[in-house]
Amino acid sequence: MKRKFHFTVIIFIVAIAVLNACRHELPDPDNNGGGTGGGGNPPPTSNCNPDTVYFVNQVMPLISSNCTMSGCHDNITHADGVNLTTYSRIMEYVVAGNAANSKLYKVIIKTNGDRMPPPPMPAFTSAQKALIQKWINQGAKNNSCIGSCDTAVFTYSGAIKPMMDAKCTGCHNPTNLGGNIDVSTYNAVKIIALNGKLYGSVAHLTGYSPMPKNSAKLSDCEIRQVQKWISAGSLNN
Ligand code: HEC
Repeated sequence: MKRKFHFTVIIFIVAIAVLNACRHELPDPDNNGGGTGGGGNPPPTSNCNPDTVYFVNQVMPLISSNCTMSGCHDNITHADGVNLTTYSRIMEYVVAGNAANSKLYKVIIKTNGDRMPPPPMPAFTSAQKALIQKWINQGAKNNSCIGSCDTAVFTYSGAIKPMMDAKCTGCHNPTNLGGNIDVSTYNAVKIIALNGKLYGSVAHLTGYSPMPKNSAKLSDCEIRQVQKWISAGSLNN
């Protein structure tokens, strides 16, 4: 009897510890399951113009993977009251046409401890900052385009790495290891390529957590690129 009691107490303590550790893995009631890129985004009508920055294709994936992870600006936590999961929420911090006056831009270019994403998370790269600045200065539209994705391109450097950096690395790097997964280097991506988790998660296969979390499913072309890269041996090419 006494043994049984001890056993129950231990199970209870372990359960609490696990629940706390996995706080970020609880299902998000407002998450649309990654179907629409945050809801209300228009379907693309024209091909991507290299001089235009597109919210759906470029800005939202960057914000999702660097700002909306759990404990930050997601639907549940909305740290400091800031929720960055949809276009309209993001626009609360943007003055269309004026990056310099937009809170969203001002916080990412700060160089002190107040910058976003906050240390120890890596700061946005200058290219990423420039992208957000350009999108705001071009009018911060809720725009999207038909990407130039090509299933014939499926090398690590030509397809996989840029895709990871734009849509996944913010949530999966050594300082922010969502689900204990790292995609910031070739060797790390290779691990999940070989164990089936990379394809399972991006193709939304049963038994895997659908990725990218909180944003639109990758296009069929991108999923095909991942599949082809893996079947060709997940090379560092
Ligand atoms: C907003 C943060 C976020 C983004 C963006 C994101 N992930 Fe995840 N990912 C997580 C979290 C958190 C988990 C842990 C499981 C869960 O909470 O669903 C996870 C789990 C995973 C897993 C393990 C899945 C499993 O079933 O074991 C893989 C693989 C993965 N992510 C890959 C990716 C890839 C590839 C992308 C980009 C296409 C991506 N993630 C984008 C947060 C994110």
